[in-house]
Amino acid sequence: MELQIAEINKTHWNGDVYEPSDDTFLLVDVLQQHAKAWNNKWPLCCVELGSGSGYVITSLALLLRQVAGPSFGHPAAHRRTCQLLAVDHSLAAVEATRNTLQAHQVTEVDVIAASLLGPLVDKLRGSVDIMVFNPPYVPTPDEEVERGGIASAWAGGYRGRRIIDRVLQLLPELLSPRGELFMVTVAENEPQGIIEEMLGFGFLGRIAAARQADEEALQILHLWRQPAGLDTGAPAPGQ
Ligand SMILES: C[S@@+](CC[C@H](N)C(=O)[O-])C[C@H]1O[C@@H](n2cnc3c(N)ncnc32)[C@H](O)[C@@H]1O
Repeated sequence: MELQIAEINKTHWNGDVYEPSDDTFLLVDVLQQHAKAWNNKWPLCCVELGSGSGYVITSLALLLRQVAGPSFGHPAAHRRTCQLLAVDHSLAAVEATRNTLQAHQVTEVDVIAASLLGPLVDKLRGSVDIMVFNPPYVPTPDEEVERGGIASAWAGGYRGRRIIDRVLQLLPELLSPRGELFMVTVAENEPQGIIEEMLGFGFLGRIAAARQADEEALQILHLWRQPAGLDTGAPAPGQ
């Protein structure tokens, strides 16, 4: 049974908001393939960083609804719930995400404007079960990172890693003991190197999917905590 995801014709974006593209669709494919596993390992808190049009967070909310429902042995009356949060630093993206959620009648997601998680980091510490991120991953001059406008949707600075590395640094404090991250990368970000680096912080990883799209070798990086955790005392990831 194919689980339902967001519909592109109900998804909102404009010239100031990242249009759902191959990277977006590859990320949602992986979430769709993985969703049945959440029936056994029910997430209580899910966050999408950089929600853009809202296509990904809407798909995630719909997937969770389905695996929590009657076809998976949970009577509708006892449907399990999950706290869902979408964050983007662009006000245009926040508005697009809200419109896309509304067009799909998804009301269970809070949408906030913040850079990465802003002041929410303290509140969410140790509690995020699923984190999803399609970051600005394109290698660019560092001055282009977070310069505002639509370019901040893709400008990733040196090796495309400036924003990615800030998020990797947050992972050890944000993710719950069973927390996992699904993140888009391209070859220039060296995803295999990220997996090796994160091993030192108690995370295991794999490339969950790969696809060549025009000039981009896209991969979805899946990281999760090692069951027993491992603190090597190494410097924070990306430093
Ligand atoms: C590649 S787009 C992905 C959009 C959408 N999630 C998708 O997959 O189609 C990256 C998104 O991250 C947002 N973004 C970039 N830097 C950010 C930051 N520091 N904090 C929050 N959002 C950020 C951009 O505004 C943009 O919407």
